[in-house]
Amino acid sequence: MLTHTITANPTYEFAADVRAGLTKLGQKELPSKYLYDEIGSALFEVISFLPQYGLTRADERLLRRHAHEIVERLATPVAVAELGSGSGKKTRWILEGLCRRQRTSYYPIEISPSALAMCERELSDIESISILGFEREYLDGLLEVAAQRHSGEHLLVLFLGSTIGNFDRPAGVKFLAEVRHILQPGDSLLLGTDLEKSNAQLIDAYDDELGVTAAFNLNLLARINRDLDADFDLRQFEHMARINHQDRSVEMHLRSRCRQTVNIPASELLVEFLEGETIWTESSHKYSRQEVHEMASRAGFCCEAQWIDQQWSFAENLLIAY
Ligand code: AVI
Repeated sequence: MLTHTITANPTYEFAADVRAGLTKLGQKELPSKYLYDEIGSALFEVISFLPQYGLTRADERLLRRHAHEIVERLATPVAVAELGSGSGKKTRWILEGLCRRQRTSYYPIEISPSALAMCERELSDIESISILGFEREYLDGLLEVAAQRHSGEHLLVLFLGSTIGNFDRPAGVKFLAEVRHILQPGDSLLLGTDLEKSNAQLIDAYDDELGVTAAFNLNLLARINRDLDADFDLRQFEHMARINHQDRSVEMHLRSRCRQTVNIPASELLVEFLEGETIWTESSHKYSRQEVHEMASRAGFCCEAQWIDQQWSFAENLLIAY
C-alpha cells in the first residue's frame, strides 16, 4: 500500500464565489460544493445513517452486492479514479474485487482535505493497492490522473452517491461529456443516480426531524464566518427543503428570519437580507432509469448495465465510452 496527497489552497476562490453568489440579482445562491468542509463532511456522514435518507445505504448495498459483476465487465488492466471519494467506505468492494485480479492504482479526487484523509485511512489496508489522492476539482484532478496512465491501461471513473444530481440537468450532461472527453474508448464510468420518489419521502430525507440536514446546511454560513471572517448570526437563518416540480429536484435553502445585514470582509461585501429571503444552497435532481440511458448517450457513453436497489429507488449505472 502506498498513499500520497497533492493539495491546493482555495480560500481566494471561496471568497470570490461567495461574493458572486450573494450579489446575484434575484435568487441569492452559494455553490453546494462548499457544504463539505471538515464539519460539513462529518455531518454528511451522519446524514447517511439517518433512516429517512436511504441514498447512501442504497449505493453501498448495490456496490457490495454487485461488485463482482461490475469488475467482471471491465476491460483490464484498469486504474480507478473516483470523483468525490468522501470517506471511501463504499468504494472498498470494487477495489477489493479489482485488487484480487491485479495491482490497482486508485486516485481519489476531492476538494475536501479531511474527506481525502479519511478515504486514505479507510482503504489503505487493501492488499495490492496504491493510493494517490488529488485535492482538486473533479475535472482538473481527472486530467492529472489521465496524464499518468500507462499505455494499454484502461480507466474506471467512479462518480457515486448521485453527486451528479447536484448539477442541474444540462450541466450534468455537459459534465459527463467533459469526463468522456478525458477518457478513451473502452474506458468506463460507474455512475450512481438517485431515482424519482414521492415528495413526502424527499422532504423527510432533506429536512429530517433530528435537524442533521439543517445543521449541514447552516454550517455553510458558519464556514463563511470561520474562513472569510464574516458575521452571519446563525440563529437568524433557518433550513428549508422544497420540491421543485418542474426540475424534478429537491432544493435546500437558508431562509433569513428577519431583515439583516451581514459583513463578509474577505469577500469585500456587505450583504442585505429581507425577512423571508432565501439563499439557495443545493439542488438534488432525481432521475428515471430511461433518462440515464439518454444522458449517457448524449455524453458519448453507452449505458451497458443498470443495477437497481429494491429498498430505496437508486441505480448504479455502468457507462462505457465509445
Ligand atoms: C451528495 N449529494 C448527493 C447529497 C444529495 O442527496 O443530494 C447531498 C445532501 N444534501 C442533503 N442531504 C444530502
